[in-house]
Amino acid sequence: MTEWPLNLAAFESAARECLPRMVYDYYAGGALDEITLRANREAYDDIALRYRVLVDVGRRSLRTDVLGREFETPVLFAPTAFHRLACEDGELATVRAAKTLGTLMVLSSLSTVPMEQVIAQYEHVWFQLYVYRDRGLTRELVARAEAAGAGAIVLTVDAQIWGRRERDVRNQFHLPDGINVANALPGGFGDMPEREGDSGLAAYVNSLFDPALDWEDVVWLKSLTKLPVLLKGIVHPDDARLAVEHGADGVMVSNHGGRQLDTACATIHALPDVVAAVEGQVPVFVDGGIRRGTDVIKALAYGASAVLVGRPVLWGLAVGGSAGIVAAIRSLHTELDVALALCGATEPARVTRGILAG
Ligand code: GLV
Repeated sequence: MTEWPLNLAAFESAARECLPRMVYDYYAGGALDEITLRANREAYDDIALRYRVLVDVGRRSLRTDVLGREFETPVLFAPTAFHRLACEDGELATVRAAKTLGTLMVLSSLSTVPMEQVIAQYEHVWFQLYVYRDRGLTRELVARAEAAGAGAIVLTVDAQIWGRRERDVRNQFHLPDGINVANALPGGFGDMPEREGDSGLAAYVNSLFDPALDWEDVVWLKSLTKLPVLLKGIVHPDDARLAVEHGADGVMVSNHGGRQLDTACATIHALPDVVAAVEGQVPVFVDGGIRRGTDVIKALAYGASAVLVGRPVLWGLAVGGSAGIVAAIRSLHTELDVALALCGATEPARVTRGILAG
């Protein structure tokens, strides 16, 4: 593509044009009536910026500290599944884009390229973990991630059973021949065939992931690895406190992109109470609905250390592979840079709560 779409909404439109319906719906869709999916995005529109003026913003940077490491941007890649449905190179294309952008990639358990191959490309990859009922397989996934050089384990805590995603049920979502859950192949859990009248992914998750996961499993996971363990999927301040008490090294405010519990609150509305609850003991991140540079500023102002984007990465990947992701995320960076300057801030760490009206 010689000319990239102008912004993330335009990337999504272009991706919709080029992806098969089953794949576009899987990436784009949410649970039930998709109320949370929409709320995540729309909640940002209702937050107004009370910008500062006459600050010298001649020199600016997007550099951001994440768990003691400096990245070029506060926009990190959220874990998303099955990248080979969007592009032949799959997660290898995604990790190359993360490296070019100088950001962090969280690699999904449901990767379609084995984790070792992805992590070998770049030193800043964290591994997202789903806990299988087969704890041997789960332990092996953690050990493999650590041995491969992942920088942290991100435990998803909002998906013990699968949200009811009606688009996937209607489309009988499945993985086509030749594409599989590459990390689980050694355990024999790689296939996700078509299921009559159901989502093949929902059937996979509900039969293989552990619905009995609880707080003691966070302690168990910490005992398996020397890596930092972050919990992704927290929206309640009491859970944020429990996360810290059980040794979590970070909290990701997330409702799984509106794909799990429909009518769950928008993540930007959950963020302030979670930030207050952890009292600065661990960093707090947020994902869900971030599509504009001004959205990033608002999340930072509410106390997020950084934000994660999921679907925008997939739209870039579908439209133009690795280069497409870089172009998509750069469009967001351009907006963020303008928004920072016009708010009177020279870098993300200088964004304060005071720039939020009300
Ligand atoms: C995978 O994690 C999904 O939400 O589909």
